[in-house]
Amino acid sequence: MKDILSLVRPNIASLSPYSTARDEYKGDIGIFLDANENPFNNGYNRYPDPRQRALKARISLLKGIAPEQIFIGNGSDEAIDLCFRIFCIPGTDNAIAIRPSYGMYRVAADINDVPLREVPLNADFSLPVDNLLDQTDEHSKLLFLCSPNNPTGNCFPLEQITYLLNRFGGMVVVDEAYIDFAEQPSLLTLLDKYSNLIILQTLSKAYGMAGLRLGLAFAAKEVMQLFANVKYPYNINLSAMEHAERLLARDVCSEVEIIKKERMRITKALSTLPCVLRVYPSDANFLLVKVTDADRIYDQLIEGGVIVRNRSRVKGCEDCLRITIGTPAENDNMLSIVSAFNKPLIVK
Ligand SMILES: Cc1ncc(COP(=O)(O)O)c(C=O)c1O
Repeated sequence: MKDILSLVRPNIASLSPYSTARDEYKGDIGIFLDANENPFNNGYNRYPDPRQRALKARISLLKGIAPEQIFIGNGSDEAIDLCFRIFCIPGTDNAIAIRPSYGMYRVAADINDVPLREVPLNADFSLPVDNLLDQTDEHSKLLFLCSPNNPTGNCFPLEQITYLLNRFGGMVVVDEAYIDFAEQPSLLTLLDKYSNLIILQTLSKAYGMAGLRLGLAFAAKEVMQLFANVKYPYNINLSAMEHAERLLARDVCSEVEIIKKERMRITKALSTLPCVLRVYPSDANFLLVKVTDADRIYDQLIEGGVIVRNRSRVKGCEDCLRITIGTPAENDNMLSIVSAFNKPLIVK
């Protein structure tokens, strides 16, 4: 186990976190005159549990990870921001990321005044393992890997990630937002071995709760304690926790299976179209599609009421659209518009 505390910003390592009224009293029953709340019950008059114990217990069962190794954030974006706030001294430390990848690593780095060194993926979107290590120095505190990667859709092999975990001197953050759509298993089983590993997941994708804003981080107990110390005390509201507990009782496997089948069907259908140059293999719930005329196809889709993501100006994704897998009917709609693109009008 690496000495993680030596990587932490000194002001964070020595932080006395805010202690909420509910942190001090552990019971559920009593007369609560400790938090200046309105005493009249309307279901939401009390502050929520700052440690989210009930929801963590449920996630712990689902993922097979101890509650002390779980952080729940206001979306994974909160966890990404916390990585910077906990580990990087603004203006001094730096972070490494692959390119193209999820845009929030750059935004969070910029907000925190931390230079982000972006390393292009290889032409086939594989991981440039040694180039990533070449970019590091003694101030490199974070390395972001997104697997399956947004927007390229591919997973990175376990051996390459462990290679980096063994050699990188800082924290390796593996964003598994789309892991439930992948054939490859999650890296959660590596947490016992690597104290420098942070895994991000989310309830926004396969679990269908994007509107509730619930992101997850998993890491060694000591790392999760730092997250708990730095987060806003009541970062998850009661309503979101209640809805999540109810929705987590549902089995999403059948939805994930439909999405995966649709992914295959759309891949085949798009691949036959003249305006489609390439559909990249995807382990996620979206497809990256290289087309002859990204802007015009994008506009045509918009005109037909179908909104996709135009990634053609992202380095490494030139001429590409990123298309989320929708319901079968939504996908048919999208396919009929792309199929009609550039078809000559038949004049009788
Ligand atoms: C790779 C990746 N990570 C994280 C997120 C954000 O997830 P959340 O909704 O939990 O903030 C996204 C959203 O699209 C994503 O693509």
